Amino acid sequence: MTNQIVVSILDCDFAHLADEVASVDERADRYQVDVMDGHFVPNLSFGFPILKTMRGLTKRPLEADLMISNPDEHAARFAEAGADLVIIHVEASQKPRQTFRAIREAGGRPGISISPGTDPAAIRDYLDEVDMVLVMTVAPGFGGQPFLDERLQAVSQVREWITETGRDIDVEVDGGIKPQTAAKAAAAGANLLVSGTFIYRSANRHQAIAELRQSAAR
Ligand code: DX5
Repeated sequence: MTNQIVVSILDCDFAHLADEVASVDERADRYQVDVMDGHFVPNLSFGFPILKTMRGLTKRPLEADLMISNPDEHAARFAEAGADLVIIHVEASQKPRQTFRAIREAGGRPGISISPGTDPAAIRDYLDEVDMVLVMTVAPGFGGQPFLDERLQAVSQVREWITETGRDIDVEVDGGIKPQTAAKAAAAGANLLVSGTFIYRSANRHQAIAELRQSAAR
């Protein structure tokens, strides 16, 4: 289980998406495409067209983080559109097991996410079906928010449950990830670190990714 840096494109300059990807692609381990419907979260971002564009811009793995109210209906289509991983939010899914299988049948790998305020136990029963658990370290919906330290307990608890399963499941954190918080999240048990604003607002994006990687390795 290696530490990986996941670049969130939510904060990038979409007028120059190809350049924005090219500016980080050599150092990024994977990307996260933050899909928001303005209903599950109070923000509206993008969907299939941007995912398909991203698929043509990089060979790195793509995660589709579905911050939408009806993930069961759309999840498989994101895998068909090129997402390597499709993350559904446990708070929104009515039939997660069916959706995890639909994602795999469409050629993707399933992940499940929990937000602040949700008991981490809500995902425990699904650890036999997912390849990743995303512990949100901010309320989903916007980039640039401050990291919530109280989420570290949920990270540790999920990592403990995963260890008990004996399965190789990644733990991802997303929201407010900078070098200081990357170190804390990795120490708590996360191995996938999603970062958007810290990377895209840095003068040297390669160095920013290297800093995150070094901080997580400590
Ligand atoms: C929240 C979003 C953000 C984004 C990255 O729904 O998912 O967490 O990916 O946020 P920052 O800019 O804090 O790295």
